[in-house]
Amino acid sequence: MRLSFARSEDPGDGRVGATPETVATLVDRGLEIEVETEAGTAAGHDDEAYRQAGATVVDADKLLATSEALVTVAPPSPERIAALPEGSALIGFLRPVHNTDLALALVERRITALAMELVPRISKAQAMDALSSQAGIAGYKAVLIAANAIDKLFPLSMTAAGTVKPARVVVLGVGVAGLQAIATAKRLGATVKANDVRAAAADEVGSLGADFVHIPGVTDQSDGVYAKNLGADLARAQHEALAPHVAQADAVICTAQIPGRDAPVLLTAEMVDRMPAGSVVVDLAAEDGGNCELSGSGEPLDRSGTRVIPAPRLAASMPREASALYARNVVNLLARIVTDEGELDVDADPELAGFLFTRGGEVLHEPTAAALASAQDTTEAAS
Ligand code: NAI
Repeated sequence: MRLSFARSEDPGDGRVGATPETVATLVDRGLEIEVETEAGTAAGHDDEAYRQAGATVVDADKLLATSEALVTVAPPSPERIAALPEGSALIGFLRPVHNTDLALALVERRITALAMELVPRISKAQAMDALSSQAGIAGYKAVLIAANAIDKLFPLSMTAAGTVKPARVVVLGVGVAGLQAIATAKRLGATVKANDVRAAAADEVGSLGADFVHIPGVTDQSDGVYAKNLGADLARAQHEALAPHVAQADAVICTAQIPGRDAPVLLTAEMVDRMPAGSVVVDLAAEDGGNCELSGSGEPLDRSGTRVIPAPRLAASMPREASALYARNVVNLLARIVTDEGELDVDADPELAGFLFTRGGEVLHEPTAAALASAQDTTEAAS
């Protein structure tokens, strides 16, 4: 099989799905590897490094026209999907539910698309879990952005001129990004409080030396893995529980997300107004609407002396490390679904079947199919 690695179409996202190291591994496994010109430049790998690892470097037109399986990081544009051979395969982040145009383009070309977001969160799939590898980087970077934005030291500092109190950080959402944000803020010396609606999160927060903020009436709002949407009453109770902690915070790191839905609003404009002057909000959930009510525009803004920084796809700001981890996720995924003869067999491991987004002209991911049906109903009702 010919496996093709595309260059990012977004100048702000230099991530790539293969490094020279992973190309060498894949070539050893008998795959033919093509890499788009300058695909790895932003991640620190020039075309020659890929050639030496055994890849052929080609321009975008040739890469797309001859691909049997294309690997991207961010979702490809519909124009690029249209240029792929009918019935070929695609592997990458595809933003299920949110990106219905992409789903339609994939159906049109009868592409077999594997969404990295849909790789199951089971222990055997951890090595191929790209959501986690990228979220860990984002959580780390969010804290560095916050530390850089405030005019306070993070650690307690006892000097001859007096004692400087540690910065106070609140982390909202304690999944992979939130845990890494807590660990990073603690390492920098801040005092940290955190909240999540999954019961398991409280112990994890405690084990990192941070304080968990409980919401009265909320013990566990999850399906065991992912959070559920809180109703209006519980959401109000959550705002009330968080408000006094947020009002004292020098930095709030927002990471709460619910797959397939808009991000929950955990930080109202009024809560931001009560934060100390010089404080900062870094909102990793901004791509899905944001946890902060003020992130919607996608642009940083100042509000009552607080800087609000929407920070979607933050892993893209560290393309070298993010690509290295993502590329290994891809290799580990392929190890499960490429046969000894070097052919793709997406049915090889039934436990992974949930990663199939589209196939044979159909959308297999039910929430995305439902979103498409509802968009169609709305169009028909309007005409
Ligand atoms: P995510 O990016 O979907 O969401 C981040 C966090 O926001 C989650 O912890 C979620 O509970 C929380 N959240 C959602 N709504 C909230 C609200 N209204 N208020 C406060 N917090 C809210 O989560 P991520 O990082 O993708 O992890 C999701 C789940 O997957 C977790 O249960 C995690 O432990 C699990 N996981 C399992 C893995 C495995 O076994 N292979 C690997 C990585 C994660």
